[in-house]
Amino acid sequence: MIQFLLNQTLRCEHALDPNMTVLEYLREHLHKPGTKEGCASGDCGACTVVVGELHSDDTGTRSLRYRSINSCLTFVSTLHGKQLISVEDLKHQGQLHSVQRAMVDCHGSQCGFCTPGFVMSLFALQKNSTGLHDGHQAHEALAGNLCRCTGYRPILAAAEQACNAERGDQFDAQQSQTIAQLEAIAPTQTAELNSGDKRCLLPLTISDLAQLYESHPQARLLAGGTDLALEVTQFHRPLPVMIYVGNVAEMKLIERFEDRLEIGAAVSLTDAYSTLKAEYPDFGELLQRFASLQIRNQGTLGGNIGNASPIGDTPPLLIALGAQLVLCKGEARRTLAIEDYFIDYRVTARQEGEFIEKIVIPRASQSHTFRAYKVSKRLDDDISAVCAAFNLHIDNGLVVEARVAYGGMAAISKRAKACEDALLGAPWNPSTLERACAALAEDFTPLSDFRASKEYRLLSAQNLLRKFFIEQQTPHLETRVTAYV
Ligand SMILES: Cc1cc2nc3c(=O)[nH]c(=O)nc-3n(C[C@H](O)[C@H](O)[C@H](O)COP(=O)(O)OP(=O)(O)OC[C@H]3O[C@@H](n4cnc5c(N)ncnc54)[C@H](O)[C@@H]3O)c2cc1C
Ligand code: FES
Ligand code: FES
Repeated sequence: MIQFLLNQTLRCEHALDPNMTVLEYLREHLHKPGTKEGCASGDCGACTVVVGELHSDDTGTRSLRYRSINSCLTFVSTLHGKQLISVEDLKHQGQLHSVQRAMVDCHGSQCGFCTPGFVMSLFALQKNSTGLHDGHQAHEALAGNLCRCTGYRPILAAAEQACNAERGDQFDAQQSQTIAQLEAIAPTQTAELNSGDKRCLLPLTISDLAQLYESHPQARLLAGGTDLALEVTQFHRPLPVMIYVGNVAEMKLIERFEDRLEIGAAVSLTDAYSTLKAEYPDFGELLQRFASLQIRNQGTLGGNIGNASPIGDTPPLLIALGAQLVLCKGEARRTLAIEDYFIDYRVTARQEGEFIEKIVIPRASQSHTFRAYKVSKRLDDDISAVCAAFNLHIDNGLVVEARVAYGGMAAISKRAKACEDALLGAPWNPSTLERACAALAEDFTPLSDFRASKEYRLLSAQNLLRKFFIEQQTPHLETRVTAYV
């Protein structure tokens, strides 16, 4: 049984199909058609809803945290213990919510199909901002919402009106009541949602997760679901047993030590952002270009590694940084360099019943320069054609340490060993650079696909290394992460 708040109303669900998405739940189970289905794959934002969760600050004070998510990629079981707000919940006592009013006033809707998704993204933006200080916040909040009619300018105007005007609403008025309701339903033990022969198990501790996964090694681990849900919605492959890691407290921790950061595998990309950006600004820039805000609110670092995609954005960066994975199986733990985790296309070193508990990243050091670059067709909400990460220690003009990693160039994200060998011990100058660029052709034989041709990929990989070199010589050139196909 799972329980959650549908706006302010408690829902206890005993027998829902665990493969049901929140979008299907709203539209087909509750007959609330306000939330729209556009692509069913996380690309259009028409299905955006907002999920409220209890949040404790450093002093233990409880508040509500609202995040926009794509309901088409979210399994209903993950709502356990949370609050779901859909577009139907915004109108109150016959009055439009201020974000809906702003969309009307600014003519932000024409055909209207995308509008509920925009409204929900604006609602989350309003809840998470104290007024818009620059256009960037609205762009970031709306980058995961597509509209083919209005041309965005009126929608951005609506964002400004909604976030800068007087904006107390029924959610603010009911805040303490909602906190009390969520505290009352906070999970205290492993829950399960099942129907027929399908199950989703929801453990709360790492030992319960380890035990469950050992006894159900055929289960699929579910984190944000932004990859996994596509198996059901796009490929129509049912998932008979899932184990949700998103409620496992230990895997949601971010810890800073003198020599390392430890990030739990179930930490969302949104939550990891500020820590990674503070340590490695390029990591932060890359995360801003990772999918959309809705996907980053759901997707996790562990899921990005766990899916072992050759075009996953974080693995090349983590490989270049020398990150390690802590893997857990039953009561046993082992630490593995992330570069050894990826073995072949979607094949990893993970054993049966083993999962990623956390990612350990060395702290930034003065002696090393770390840069990352993503090449994709669009700036926002697009997957890389090529992703490059460079981590070099140059001493007295000589390269004394080099970690170079690429995504999109092979069946796995991997180090460019021949390129590194060409750099190591050599002077950091144009002829070394050209030798290292040529060596990339030994490291990689990329494929052509709809994202890029093999020739384009190799040339981009080489040009990104050249770009890195030029930026080192002329540090005022700040055109780092953005590049286009
Ligand atoms: C529209 C769209 C845009 C996207 N854009 C990008 C992008 O720009 N860059 C990019 O890199 N990716 C992108 N993705 C892919 C996806 O969002 C990321 O890979 C995300 O990080 C996956 O995390 P998740 O928590 O949602 O994983 P899930 O979908 O929950 O899981 C993914 C896989 O990892 C496994 N897994 C989950 N947790 C663990 C664990 N702790 N240990 C072991 N295995 C685990 C799961 O079993 C599953 O096989 C995009 C996806 C969509 C739908
Ligand atoms: S329906 Fe397009 S993102 Fe969900
Ligand atoms: S108003 Fe028609 S797609 Fe946005």
